[in-house]
Parts: sequence; C-alpha cells; structure tokens
Amino acid sequence: STMGVKDVIRKELGSLHGMPLYESFIEGWPQVETFQARPDDLLISTYPKSGTTWVSEILDMIYQDGDEKKCQRDAIYNRVPFLEMKVPGGPSGVEQLEKNPSPRLVKTHLPVRLLPSSFWEKNCKVIYVARNPKDVVISYYYFYQMAKIHPDPGTLSEFLENFMAGKVAYGSWYEHVRGWWEKAQEKSILYLFYEDMKKDPRRELEKILKFLGKVVSEETMEKILHHTSFQQMKKNPVANYETMPTDLMDHSLSPFLRKGISGDWKNHFTVAQNECFDKHYQEQMAGSGLCFQMEV
Ligand code: A3P
Repeated sequence: STMGVKDVIRKELGSLHGMPLYESFIEGWPQVETFQARPDDLLISTYPKSGTTWVSEILDMIYQDGDEKKCQRDAIYNRVPFLEMKVPGGPSGVEQLEKNPSPRLVKTHLPVRLLPSSFWEKNCKVIYVARNPKDVVISYYYFYQMAKIHPDPGTLSEFLENFMAGKVAYGSWYEHVRGWWEKAQEKSILYLFYEDMKKDPRRELEKILKFLGKVVSEETMEKILHHTSFQQMKKNPVANYETMPTDLMDHSLSPFLRKGISGDWKNHFTVAQNECFDKHYQEQMAGSGLCFQMEV
C-alpha cells in the first residue's frame, strides 16, 4: 500500500460487508478473514467503548499471575493485539498476533457474523463485554474526537442519530450485543457487562477465573483488582494509550481513559433525546432477552 498515516486521518468510513469501517482496515481484511486461530487463543470481543481495555488488562494480569512488572513489558495494544487493525506504517493486528507467543490474547470489535471462522473451528474461548448504549454513545462521541481515524463526529445530536442508525464504525450496537448474546447460548462465551464490573469487580473477576479454569491466591486477586482500577490504569502509560502517536490519538482533546463511570450519559442527553433513544431502544431490543443497567 502507498498509504501514509495522513491518509487515514478524518476520512469517511468505508463498508465491510455492509458494516461501516475504516478504509485502511478494509484493505487488510483478506488477511483477517483467513486468520488461523490457535485452540488456546482467548478472544476478547466488544462493541467499541464497552470496556475492552479494562478486561484486556485484567486478562493479561491473570496470564502473568498478578505480576505488574510483567504487564509493563509493552503497551496494551501490543500485549493484546487488535485482530482487524491496520494502519499505514506499522504492523497489522494479524502480523502482531503471528509474533506473539501462545497462549495469545486477541482483541476484536467484529460483530459475530464477521468473525473469522477459524475461531469457531478451533473452539476458542471468548469473553464478550457489553455496556449500556447510552454510556457507549457518549464514550464513542469523545473517542471520535480524540482518535482521528474517525470522521468528524459533528454535534452530539448528529452523532446520536448516526449511532441509532448504525452509521458509525462497527455499525449497529443493537445487532452487535444481540448477535453475540445469541451465540453465547450455544458456544463457550462468557458474556459480561461493564456495569456489573463497576458494581462488583471482584465477583466479575471470579467469573473470569472460573471460566478460564484458573485458581489464584487472595493476594493475587487483590493485586489484579488494584492494578486494573480506573485510577491505576489512567496513570499507567502502558494501559492508557498515551504511547500512541499524537496524530492518531490526541489525548488533549479527550483522554482515552476519560471518566470510567456508569451513567455519564445523564450529563449529556436532553430529555427529548433520552425519550427518543428509549423508544428506539425498545424497538431494537424487543425479544432479545438482554437487559441493560443504564446506571449503577
Ligand atoms: P469512558 O469514555 O466512559 O470513560 P474501550 O476500552 O472499549 O475503548 O472502552 C473505553 C471506556 O472504558 C472508557 O469509558 C474508559 O474510561 C473505560 N475504562 C477503561 N478502563 C477502565 C477501568 N479500569 N474502569 C472503568 N472504566 C474503564
């Protein structure tokens, strides 16, 4: 490719099998589609802004037996490569994954219908994290501003409309959470909620450990919980994305670890926007069996 970083800044999204996505990722799709998973790969799957980085840091801490120093070895985006990522001038997610030793942690935002088939064939374990859509859309709005691979988000009101219509990167949040939820009924998928992690991080950590079949000491549990708290991660350069080139992510516009709370949407939605959002939410989620906590 002859693309440089400047060619991915504030560009309109392309379409990957009907899903809006960055053109540079679409260019790398052939490598992603044929990706060879290994049976001991663990896939972390989320819609963007749902707690991906948080659960990634928790998993790396578990894999390193609570050794914080080992988790300082590299930035989170290298410790847990982003499967479908491709930007000019650096290795793609697939290339990074090929370099990482097993057992690998893999991050994806792909909807279930687009996940490379190898993950199913190898029966890989999957941890999915879902977050309520009102907080997701606010977090995504700030992320669009700071992560310049996105088009300009416009006003919040415009962005809300685009989000509801699935016209943002990775498409419809509603389809994403529903698709993975349906898959979780038949496959080995641990389906977690950001709000539960906020409310009782220890209980969610215990769920993860049980899912992985791991037993750790009380001391290790304490270390993991401390190291992965919002306050600790926010000041940790290998967890907070500050090591990303400023032309791709500008933390002066909005930090990657922004607020880390549930219910921040209340500081942003008008009463009318909230009513409209609720109505659309009911229509989209009817019969799904999924229930989101909009605050904790
Ligand atoms: P906010 O923008 O609401 O603060 P992702 O990693 O999927 O991109 O999600 C980013 C969101 O998760 C951001 O939300 C970020 O602050 C939040 N987050 C990251 N680490 C967290 C932690 N340890 N505790 C709580 N929230 C965290």
